[in-house]
Amino acid sequence: MQSLSNKKVLLGITGGIAAYKSAELVRLLIKAGAEVRVVMTPSAQKFVQPLTYQALSGHRVYLDLFDAEAESAMDHIELARWCDLLLVAPASADFLGKMNAGYADNLLLTLCLASPQPVAVAPAMNQQMFANPATQENIKQLAAKQVLLWGPASGEQACGDVGLGRMLEAQQLFDNVLLHFSPGKLAGVKLLLTAGPTREAIDPVRYISNRSSGKMGYALAAAAIEQGASVTLVSGPVALPAPAGADLIAVESAQQMYDAVMQRAPASDVFIACAAVSDYRVDQAANQKIKKSSDSLSLKLVLNADILATVSALAPRPFCVGFAAETQDVEKYALGKLQQKKLDMIAANQVGDGNSGFETDFNQLEVFWRDGRHSIGHASKAEVANQLIELIAERYTCARSRQAQQT
Ligand code: PMT
Repeated sequence: MQSLSNKKVLLGITGGIAAYKSAELVRLLIKAGAEVRVVMTPSAQKFVQPLTYQALSGHRVYLDLFDAEAESAMDHIELARWCDLLLVAPASADFLGKMNAGYADNLLLTLCLASPQPVAVAPAMNQQMFANPATQENIKQLAAKQVLLWGPASGEQACGDVGLGRMLEAQQLFDNVLLHFSPGKLAGVKLLLTAGPTREAIDPVRYISNRSSGKMGYALAAAAIEQGASVTLVSGPVALPAPAGADLIAVESAQQMYDAVMQRAPASDVFIACAAVSDYRVDQAANQKIKKSSDSLSLKLVLNADILATVSALAPRPFCVGFAAETQDVEKYALGKLQQKKLDMIAANQVGDGNSGFETDFNQLEVFWRDGRHSIGHASKAEVANQLIELIAERYTCARSRQAQQT
């Protein structure tokens, strides 16, 4: 079993029937070697007695912002700094709303505001309350503030409803804590990634683009963050929320993507080119809307710079991973691109059949490098991304140790 020794977890409990699950969570954390302190809001105490958590954690439970005795032992600012992780489980709708608004009218809210450490929340509420736009907005804004969202799960609820809103089980929350503290295969790696399409202006209202939704690239960003990488995502226009924890640079044209990437590539360890960059742009985009004046219209297109090939030609350069989107002879074209662009790795996908590649939620890849290959079978883009990031981490580590041996 993975150890949590030396890890300090501050567990916040708010008012909800799921509070009973947190007792099991305390037990699991203590068993794995973590030091646990528990803070309860006034409503939490209506569901479970503080004594339960005191007995399990081996420490007094913190209840009140104005408790002179507790403050003299460890004041609330010190408590906020003491922990390595502040986990609120269960986190009620009311608590999430107040937390998002920056309220500090009880001890736990004060600690969330005062803690310099990562804060995770495990939402638990009725499915209708969870679906309410106010809750959704609070959750979205908390995620944008780097609060980690663990759950909720879907299923039968204490009130008899069925839907999304159940708190994750104690074991799942415990696994998330373990994952949070495990360094990850790309810990410390600076990863630069392109995603989505580019738009090449024809005139102020029209453009040339393609069917890329950004789903594959955004899934890769999330998977790399989960493996500990610090991710900069240069993205063309897509309708997706920024992956939590990524530094998102929004661009529109291939030239803007080129500029954003070239500015950051020299300081990056890994570069993944997942964007579907327009190969051509309109030579002279019109300043005014082009009027319909004849039966045909010719546009002169000129070649865009190849971002991936340019990054790959840098010296020194990041570990370069390209994509190949092909409708036919996938392997032949992918191997050609691997060689011509001097890449460390290329992930080839069949596109145009509706089952994988552009737009769909699924993909499958044939991945090639100089002396090897690996197939990633048909699965959700999230799953394909996890597998590809694992493979990249493996190959990158090999390349780095080979480099170290040569110097
Ligand atoms: O966004 P989704 O809807 O989820 O779809 C995912 C995807 C199909 C777009 C993705 O999996 C994918 O295949 N991305 C690469 C698409 C592409 O442009 O392939 P290509 O074979 O034309 O280009 C080869 C490589 O060169 C790619 O890594 C591309 O990013 C890069 N390139 C191409 C042209 C250019 N000017 N600059 C580049 O960097």
